[in-house]
Amino acid sequence: MDKPFIVALDFASKEEVRTFLQPFSDTSLFLKVGMELYFQEGPAMIDELKQKGHHIFLDLKLHDIPHTVKQAMKGLAKLGVDLVNVHASGGSAMMFAAIEGLEEGTPHGMSRPRCIAVTQLTSTSERVLRDELLIDRPMKETVVHYATLAYRSGLDGVVCSAQEVPLLRASFGTSFITVTPGIRFAGDNADDQVRIVTPYEAKRLGTNYIVIGRSITKAHDPYVAYERLKREWDGGK
Ligand code: C5P
Repeated sequence: MDKPFIVALDFASKEEVRTFLQPFSDTSLFLKVGMELYFQEGPAMIDELKQKGHHIFLDLKLHDIPHTVKQAMKGLAKLGVDLVNVHASGGSAMMFAAIEGLEEGTPHGMSRPRCIAVTQLTSTSERVLRDELLIDRPMKETVVHYATLAYRSGLDGVVCSAQEVPLLRASFGTSFITVTPGIRFAGDNADDQVRIVTPYEAKRLGTNYIVIGRSITKAHDPYVAYERLKREWDGGK
C-alpha cells in the first residue's frame, strides 16, 4: 500500500479492465475493485491484477451479522488483497468479527489486509439521514461517531471526504488511515459527486489515500491523467 493514489476500476468486465491497463504495463498501481467488477469477474480478476504487480482495495462494503462477516473476511484475506471495508453501521461486534476473520484467513507469512469503515455513504443527504434512517443528529456528528466506533473496534481507518480528514486526524492520530473519494482535477466535471476537492487539496488536508475514478478512467489519455495526478499531488500544475 505504498502509493497514495487508488484508481477505481469501475468497469463491468475484465476486457474493459485490460484495455484500460494497457498503457500501465510497466507501472504498479493501487486499484479499487468494487461490486460491479467483482460480481461479474470474481476472484480470478483479483489474481490477474495481483500477478501484474498491482495492489488491491476490494471495496465490497460488508454489512451482515458478525459471524457471516467473519467468514466472508476469512475468504477475502485468502485472496491476498491489501485493503477491504465494512459499513460501520453494522456495529462494533461486526467490526471486531471482520478483523478476526481477516486475521484467521491471512495465509502464513503474509500481512493481513487492512480494513476500513464506511461511515455514511456520500450519497446520503441530511434529509435521508433524518427522514429515512431516523438519525436525528447532523451528518458531521454521525460521521465522527461512526469513525470513533470503527477506531474502538480495531479497524485501521475510514473512508471519508477530504473535509473530514483534519477532524479525524485530531481525534485518532496519524496511524488511523483515511481514504478519500470525490477527487477531481481543477476544471473537471463533478459528475454526481457533491463535495469535490483536487488532489493537492486532499493532500494538504492530510489524507493518506485518494480514490480517483472517472478523472482517470474516462480521460482521453489515462496514462497522461495519472501522471498529472502524481504532479498535482506533489503541488505541481
Ligand atoms: O469516478 P469517481 O472519481 O467519482 O469515483 C469514485 C469512486 O469512489 C467510485 O468507485 C465510488 O463508488 C467510490 N466512492 C465514493 N464515495 C464514497 C465511497 C466510495 O465516491 N463515499
